Amino acid sequence: MADALKLGFSPFSTAPKGVLIVFCNDQLKFGPATRKALAPTGDLVQRAAKAEHFTGKSGTALELAMPEGLKLPRLVVVGAGKSADLTEKDFLKLGGVAMGKVPARAAEATVIAELPERAMRAEQAADLAQGVRLRAYAFERYKTKRKEGEEKAEHRTVTIAVSDVAGTRKALAPREAITEGVVLARDLVNEPANVLYPEEFARRTIALKKVGVAVEVLDLRALKKLGMNALLGVGQGSARESRVAVMRWNGGKSGDAPVAFIGKGVCFDTGGISIKPASGMEDMKGDMAGAACVTGLMHALAARKARVNVVGVIGLVENMPDGKAQRPGDIVTSMSGQTIEIINTDAEGRLVLADVIWYTAKRFKPKFMVDLATLTGAIIVALGHEYAGMFSNDDRLAERLTKAGQATGEPVWRMPLGPEYDKQIDSKFADVKNTGGTRWGGAITAAQFIQRFVADKTPWAHLDIAGTGFDSRQTDTNKSWGSGWGVRLLDRLVKDYYEA
Ligand code: BES
Ligand code: MN
Ligand code: ZN
Repeated sequence: MADALKLGFSPFSTAPKGVLIVFCNDQLKFGPATRKALAPTGDLVQRAAKAEHFTGKSGTALELAMPEGLKLPRLVVVGAGKSADLTEKDFLKLGGVAMGKVPARAAEATVIAELPERAMRAEQAADLAQGVRLRAYAFERYKTKRKEGEEKAEHRTVTIAVSDVAGTRKALAPREAITEGVVLARDLVNEPANVLYPEEFARRTIALKKVGVAVEVLDLRALKKLGMNALLGVGQGSARESRVAVMRWNGGKSGDAPVAFIGKGVCFDTGGISIKPASGMEDMKGDMAGAACVTGLMHALAARKARVNVVGVIGLVENMPDGKAQRPGDIVTSMSGQTIEIINTDAEGRLVLADVIWYTAKRFKPKFMVDLATLTGAIIVALGHEYAGMFSNDDRLAERLTKAGQATGEPVWRMPLGPEYDKQIDSKFADVKNTGGTRWGGAITAAQFIQRFVADKTPWAHLDIAGTGFDSRQTDTNKSWGSGWGVRLLDRLVKDYYEA
């Protein structure tokens, strides 16, 4: 991984280097390897814990600068809670907490992957290591100055002491593939729109060829020929040309129908002629978080050689006001043949998705499609930054997404669809209009609009990630503005239900 920290493993018997991070339970107990590493500190930990009222409660930490003469410069004791209760996402979180305790000045740290009751299993230690990596991510491409004494990520080394070095390394390999996917998605979301415009985004998907993904980029001519006028209408006011990128990974049986992921890739959303207020508009560089997630996911699946056929399709446009821009009142004919009256040019994501979803179902006849889009402010009103909104025409797919969300800590909450909402988007002049008459239920009417472009009753789910794709909740494993949300969720969906 480029500009990533160095991550290594050592057996418990190796003397720890640098800042030492260990785990205890809420009785302040340590495992045997940890006790051995702490032996030179005598009763220092117990005395400090008493003085600081540190009891080892889960999520708390005790940080100690070590007296001179000890080889340890600094010790951090992290409360891990009861080992029996810990699930995969808790180990990820512990890794994040541990990495968060390594001061920015420190070049070296050692984490002992041991709970008081037992050493972490290889899979658990690998989850911990993934948490360390995710936490260590920082987008610093445009920082030319750094604070005095702070180390660059690639100059830092974190060693995780484990009971089974070979087993942990093996378990880490697929997790590194997934982490790379998350990092790629975060990088794409964090990039400014003067750097990452549709053509440049498409170029970056071409880089996925190195992990075995086949990439096809549809240019303006191809898009016109396909009749993707809903998508093209959104991009027509921009000096940057629109693109659609199609990514394919065939790790499954040949001839087996693929699973499909579709992303909204509005590289910048000014709102167009229905222009947005100035305040906060800079955030709209992240309006391609859905496309970023799909790209990161394709990387993850290919790099870990997932045994599945999968296609990722992203619609890349820039929504700008201009003499050539689309107007409110314009009517466009989508690829499906349905006509759309544009009421508000700021409801552009659904126009992009309408064509890309139709295209994907018709061309690939997938087992299911999941689309991701930073689609509506209304979903943030409904769910805040904690859950993504999920809409689906298929209970089984919805159930599976819900479970994968719980397992990975990227949860989704199902919202309703239904013909009751149709009257809001029936148009006087065309088959459908792109916004309802009111703001009420805005995330639902958007989903209801998209559903009209799901061809052939393909099982489909729409994830509205406006609250989770960027500027989302800061967690122990994410301190980045662009969160890379959804890569781990969808990787998990594929792994648990669709791999041979
Ligand atoms: N990209 C925005 C939605 C958005 C808002 C994402 C805030 C993340 C944070 C989308 O294109 C949009 O402008 N939606 C409008 C729809 C409205 C015009 C019907 C909205 O939500 O206000
Ligand atoms: Mn918009
Ligand atoms: Zn948008």
